[in-house]
Formats: sequence, C-alpha cells, structure tokens
Amino acid sequence: MLVIKNGKIATASEIFEADIGIEDGKIVAIARDLKGEEVIDAGGKIVMPGMIDGHTHMAMPFMGTFSSDDFETGTKAAAFGGVTTIINFAIQEKGKGLKDAIEVEDSKAKGKAFIDYAFHVAITDMREDVLAEIPEVMKNGVTSFKLFMTYEGLMVTDDVLLEVLDVVTKNGGLVGVHAENYYIIKFLTKRLLAEGKTDPIYHAYSRPNCCEEEAVNRACIITQIVNGRLYVVHLSTAEGLERIEEFQKRGVRVYAETCPQYLLLDEELYKEPDFGGAKYVMSPPLRREKDRRALWDGIRRGTIQLIGSDHCPFFMEQKEMGKDDFTKIPNGAPGVETTLPLLFSEGVVKGRITLNRLVEVFSTNPAKLYGMYPKKGTIAIGSDADIVILDPKKEVTLSVDMLHQNVDYTPYEGWKVKGYPVVTIVRGKVVCEEGEFYGEKGYGEFVPRKEAIDLW
Ligand code: URP
Ligand code: ZN
Ligand code: ZN
Repeated sequence: MLVIKNGKIATASEIFEADIGIEDGKIVAIARDLKGEEVIDAGGKIVMPGMIDGHTHMAMPFMGTFSSDDFETGTKAAAFGGVTTIINFAIQEKGKGLKDAIEVEDSKAKGKAFIDYAFHVAITDMREDVLAEIPEVMKNGVTSFKLFMTYEGLMVTDDVLLEVLDVVTKNGGLVGVHAENYYIIKFLTKRLLAEGKTDPIYHAYSRPNCCEEEAVNRACIITQIVNGRLYVVHLSTAEGLERIEEFQKRGVRVYAETCPQYLLLDEELYKEPDFGGAKYVMSPPLRREKDRRALWDGIRRGTIQLIGSDHCPFFMEQKEMGKDDFTKIPNGAPGVETTLPLLFSEGVVKGRITLNRLVEVFSTNPAKLYGMYPKKGTIAIGSDADIVILDPKKEVTLSVDMLHQNVDYTPYEGWKVKGYPVVTIVRGKVVCEEGEFYGEKGYGEFVPRKEAIDLW
C-alpha cells in the first residue's frame, strides 16, 4: 500500500488531519497511523483531490493554426500544475458526425496522455442525423457538449441551442455555451477596421460586456423554455453574472464557469508595446476591475460553480498572424499549469475564497456536473487515488522558463505565488514529485462519464 502521511486533507466540505492508503489506483483507507510499504510524507502540506480542468484545447485546429500543446505536452504541464483529469474539446468538422469528432480526439489522446482525460463535443454542424447521434454518444460516456454562439464557422443559431439543450438534458447531460453576440462583434469589428484600428486592444473594444450579457440572457431563456441544464463557459463580465443569478433565482438550471484570466488580468494589458498585447487575445476578452470583483464574489456566493483554465496556447509566432489585423490573432492563452497555484495564492492566501471552495470549484463540482463523481473529485474510500499535495509555504515566481506548457510565454510572467503543488498522483501513480517527472506516456485513460449530478 502507498500511504500519504501527516497531511492536512482538504475536500469541498472538510479539512482534517489523516493518512490516506492507496491500493490498485484507489483510495482504500483514510485513518490515522496507517502503515504502508511506500510512504509520502505530507507533513505541513495540504492534500486535495486532483484538480479537474474541464476546459482545455489541446492540439485544436483553430483560426488557421493549431493550439500548441498536444495531449503529451499539455497533460505533462497539467500534472505539474496539480491537474489529474482534463476535459478537452472535440470539435465536430463540417459534414462529419459527432462520433467522428470523438474518434479524431481519441486518436490524439490515446497513447499520449500522462493524466486522465475526457471530451466535450462542440457541435458545429447540426443536422437530423447529428441530433440523432447525441443519445448514442452520451451512452458511450461523452455527456457534455459545447455550442459556440459566435466564431465564424463554429457558431450555431438559437434553434440549435433549443434542440441540443432539449435532447442533452433529457438524456442527463450538460450543454456549455460560449456566450457572445456574433452580430454586435461583427458590426463593431467592421467599424474599427474601417477606421484603421488594428491593434490588439481593439479585440477588447470589439467585444464589449454587453455582447456577453445579451448572449448569456438568450441562452438562459432558451434553457428555461426547454427546462435544460446549461453552463456558461468562461464567464467574464459582471453583467453576464447578474443575468445568470437572475435565472438561477427563477429555478433555471444554469451553471457558470470562469477562468483565472478573468479573475486576475486587466484589459489594459492589450496595450503592451511591440504587439505584446497579443498574448492576451482570447474570447471573451479580458475585462476591468469591477468585473473581476464581481466574479470573485460570484464564486464566493455560489453563483459560479466551476473554474477551468480555457488552456488554448499559441506561440507568439502564431499570434503574429494578426500583426496588422487583431481579428487574425489566434484566440487563446495558456493556463492549465498555473490555474491551481494562482487560485490558491490569489484566492485562498489573499482571503478571497476558502480552501474548501477552491476544491469545490476546481475538482468536486466539475466531477459532479461532468458526471465523474465520486470516482473523481473527492477524497473518499473507493474513489480514484487522484491526489495533489500542495506546499502552502512554497514561494514561486511564475515564468515561462519554469513552466512546462509548450508555448513561449505565460500571461503571468513574474507573478509571485505562495503555495505550489509539489506531488501529483493519478490513480495511485506518482506522476510529479518535487519538480521531478515520473509520468508514463499513455498512462492517462479516457474517463467514460455518467449523468450530471445537479448542484441544487
Ligand atoms: O479565446 C479562446 N477562449 N480560445 C479558445 C476557444 C474558446 O472559445 O474557448
Ligand atoms: Zn469559448
Ligand atoms: Zn475554450
């Protein structure tokens, strides 16, 4: 038996001192004074369920290029960041089906991943045969879907939102929406470009808060009509949050995910000189202080239930595609490795959220909503031994040089964090320990998922 000794165990609801016994990839004992052949001393450290990053884009074809981390580099980086499962987006190709999208994604992941993985399918080409595929795909363990309300070539119209929310919810699943109003963005972009405004800052000006607010509101109304189960991905605005709260109070099942970049980074960063602002070009864009305050508050109050990284890295050379036109900068930024340290340091250490809440939004709630609980997302007897040990005293200066993401920058260069993951265990296997990597390529398994567990 592998025993983690002397740690302070933190779950979504408790903090207590005990040892954890692990056998055959599962947690088999939680008690004091356990004995084992192998021992990890977690004295002075925090022991949490492995983090579940429900929002990654590994090797994704997007805006004329591919995101730069694949399942090998990306899951290695994730492990160093205390993440033990990712849910990656499989994008349906036009003319193809949902099973095709899953097959493609599966071939990218199998034999490569160091940690466990699952897929959401982004439906981009709705047809009768595609709608009919949904229940079958769900039976095979892919129980969540994403619909883009913007992006040329990916977006769907409201009729698709209605149909998909209806079918997916009836089958026990969950639909995520990228909520931005396509037509407002198109109109403002055209005007900005006509005025010769091509720098990265105009990416933000072309997508004001109301774009998100309107799309969130529409998606919530549609959810209400079909009694659906919706989650708004990468929520970035105070206004979007207000709409969500309103619908939650009406009893509509609408959940919300936000990301560290919307909690920590400001729109002014788009003005960094020498095209530096391109590093932060993502959609929705970075916002302002009032939005960040509202989002932290939303996590505290329970209006926001999920944190994901939206890890979608591109090298600066790829970002250069939009040197003369912000609309051509590939949208996305790295984050899978830095989410936990940032949430702990900026969230827990600074008193914005409790440790339990961190575990809840970045492990337990994703496991419940994405249909993996209690296999994943908690420390309990019978659960997978997916565990992260965090040293609350370890101080680290984040820098591209010490991170493992396959990209040449981090949006958090020079940020000092207090508290860092030092051991990551996936199904009983130590993958990272004190900066050393012991991962085995292909060890990561596909996680077939079940019905969503509602949070209220
Ligand atoms: O800019 C972003 N967020 N890129 C990744 C794709 C998406 O919309 O999540
Ligand atoms: Zn999105
Ligand atoms: Zn995304």
